[in-house]
Amino acid sequence: MKRGLILVNAYSRLISASNQPKRLKEEFEKLGVVVDIKKNSIDTAMIIEGNVQSFIEDYDFVIYLDKDKYTSSLLEKEGIRLFNRHEAIRLCDDKMDTHIRLAGHGISMPDTIGGLLCYNEEATIDEVMPRINLIEEKLGYPCVIKECYGSLGAKVYCANNRNELLQLMEKVKLKSHLFQKMIASSRGRDVRVIVIGGKAVCAMQRTSKTDFRSNIELGGVAEPIELSESFREISERVADILELDYCGIDILYGQEGEPIVCEVNSNAFFGAMESVSGVNVAGKYAEYIYETIYG
Ligand SMILES: Nc1ncnc2c1ncn2[C@@H]1O[C@H](COP(=O)(O)OP(=O)(O)O)[C@@H](O)[C@H]1O
Ligand SMILES: [Mg+2]
Repeated sequence: MKRGLILVNAYSRLISASNQPKRLKEEFEKLGVVVDIKKNSIDTAMIIEGNVQSFIEDYDFVIYLDKDKYTSSLLEKEGIRLFNRHEAIRLCDDKMDTHIRLAGHGISMPDTIGGLLCYNEEATIDEVMPRINLIEEKLGYPCVIKECYGSLGAKVYCANNRNELLQLMEKVKLKSHLFQKMIASSRGRDVRVIVIGGKAVCAMQRTSKTDFRSNIELGGVAEPIELSESFREISERVADILELDYCGIDILYGQEGEPIVCEVNSNAFFGAMESVSGVNVAGKYAEYIYETIYG
């Protein structure tokens, strides 16, 4: 019997109601693969007496819809094929790590400066004044500040002047963060591209009238868009460099409309994409996994 497992986050509520695993399971059923949906739990994988132990051995593959890096690493150590792989998920989970990995490969992205590590709550921002001067000189205002772990636009901020920058730096100083040039030509507008097995399969444009962030969760409106060659090419290259089986890439418009990579989501939701583009994303992902494992 062909069997797969979908693992979701331990703390996520309403597994049964959540669209992502349900849609995937449905598509695998059409291919004759039985798929279980489980939460990552205390006994998924652990180290006992110096060895990895897990309950996964009956499954041919795992679709890892979580980002918990300890479990994904342990499962791979057990020889389980994860979709996406541990390292790909880890690199995408941290926005700065994603940019660092992509740097030097000819991928256009906004100029980006990493936030300096701070582990002292008492520390004051003026202790890193040279960094502030550098941010102003290289990025200018308005600039973008992002916490490295975040999604749905919730941890992405804009500073219009030094005062706002200082306040935001204080707010994020104990968390991983980065500073980025604001791509003004793309304010409130970007393109989300889904790449599966190295091929860009669909895209939508997201536009917000009220916010520089185009996330649908913040009021952005999505519409289908035909991918131009340059957007297709950069999406597929990014997925290839990060060794992603599946991803959703956010791409900004440069001054001439050229693509600039904003961020890469290893666990991109595909519900809105399926309804906007009319493409069966879950079906395409299931087919790709089937081919990879049984083909
Ligand atoms: N450097 C930037 N210049 C212009 N807009 C940006 C920039 N970075 C992010 N944005 C906008 O903010 C949105 C959210 O940022 P993103 O990095 O995708 O974080 P999240 O993971 O929260 O979606 C993007 O979709 C885009 O509309
Ligand atoms: Mg995004």
